[in-house]
Amino acid sequence: MIGGSGFYSFLDDPVEHVVTTPYGDPSAPVSVGEVAGRRVAFLPRHGPHHEHPPHAIPYRANLWALRSLGVRQVLAPCAVGGLGTDVAPGDVVVPDQLVDRTFRRVGSYVERGAVHLPFADPYCAGVSQALATAAPDVRAGATMVVVEGPRFSTRAESRHYADQGWSLINMTGAPEAALAREMRLCYASIALVTDMDAGAESGAGVGQEEVFARFRENLSRLTGLLSTAIAQLPDPTGCACSSWADDVALTYDVPG
Ligand code: ADE
Repeated sequence: MIGGSGFYSFLDDPVEHVVTTPYGDPSAPVSVGEVAGRRVAFLPRHGPHHEHPPHAIPYRANLWALRSLGVRQVLAPCAVGGLGTDVAPGDVVVPDQLVDRTFRRVGSYVERGAVHLPFADPYCAGVSQALATAAPDVRAGATMVVVEGPRFSTRAESRHYADQGWSLINMTGAPEAALAREMRLCYASIALVTDMDAGAESGAGVGQEEVFARFRENLSRLTGLLSTAIAQLPDPTGCACSSWADDVALTYDVPG
């Protein structure tokens, strides 16, 4: 699981692993422990003390580190803004599409050669299903636009995204999902709506305190959902997320 540092207490009997990767250090040492009787690794995306802002997260090192420890399925909880009238603060949504509007992040392990990954469906169907069925109030199916940050959007940007029919906005969902696919990992996201983004927000617009406070309020609800989802994860063997490169000569190392 890659998530906020609030999830540290999620694991039973955690053991910390310091992993070095060809892409530098991950956001933090990886904790490995148990949840719902299954072995789970946890990596705080922004670092233990929120040192890494969204545009400077070591995404490549993070996915490589998890894969090297034997991880095969990644659950990625995140905070999102709502763009339209179809979502409201407090909603929990499993997105099925993403739009990558980031522009200064290293978004691939491919540095040479013809390696073009399939990404029409950016999220693993099996892991998404486990998340979407973890509680009756989890909603499934929404498009999440990922912006560069660290600033929030202007009202005009926000209205533009809403006009495209996109429902959710976030700063960390890319390139994380694409790198997971390149690492041949199953990956799915679960989004907590913490605010209505600037286009829909009245008053001063979105602020960081609102986002953090809403996330803290919903932490135990989210950890409950994630435990249930972990207990019902499908067997990843043979999933399209890991088999897409069976006939492709990869030009980068996939560990483990
Ligand atoms: N994360 C949480 N709320 C957000 C917003 N409104 N825009 C971008 N990322 C967010």
